[in-house]
Amino acid sequence: MPRLKEEKSKIQNLMPHTTALEPLETDQWFVDSPEFSEFVATAKEIIATTNHNRIKTLDILEPYFAALLQKRDWLPEHFAQPNLEGGLGGGIGQWLLYRSQELTIFSLVIPPNSITPIHDHLSWGLVGLYQGKQEETVYRRLDKGQLEGFGDLQENKIPAILEEKKR
Ligand SMILES: [Fe+2]
Repeated sequence: MPRLKEEKSKIQNLMPHTTALEPLETDQWFVDSPEFSEFVATAKEIIATTNHNRIKTLDILEPYFAALLQKRDWLPEHFAQPNLEGGLGGGIGQWLLYRSQELTIFSLVIPPNSITPIHDHLSWGLVGLYQGKQEETVYRRLDKGQLEGFGDLQENKIPAILEEKKR
């Protein structure tokens, strides 16, 4: 089973940074697959029944997400491709798979040897590995963000390696 990096620890810290998105008239689907549709339905039900308790939402949702990541053939090849023109640089592709008022799912494709800039997700959610291997370093910010373009960072834990389960 793929290891999941949970964003639970960030939730409380990020609450002041909530972003209001424009309301959607309808859900936006970019992947047409029964496995994916079933996961979205399950996720929406869990979100609705856990009543904004995000830690509880993630706890219940995690095994369903892990199960989805174990399945093959639900993610169209297009959404597993790098994007040389993407705004993240390094050929990193970010592809929207589904979006509704309460849930957004996207794939992030990081080509071999590419490195993402240091970033904060500024959201709650789950991150999982569908294919390949990823090394990750988590930092804790020591300053209050008062200087634009500067962050006083400290490694928060030993770098983690997410690795696809051998099949
Ligand atoms: Fe990230």
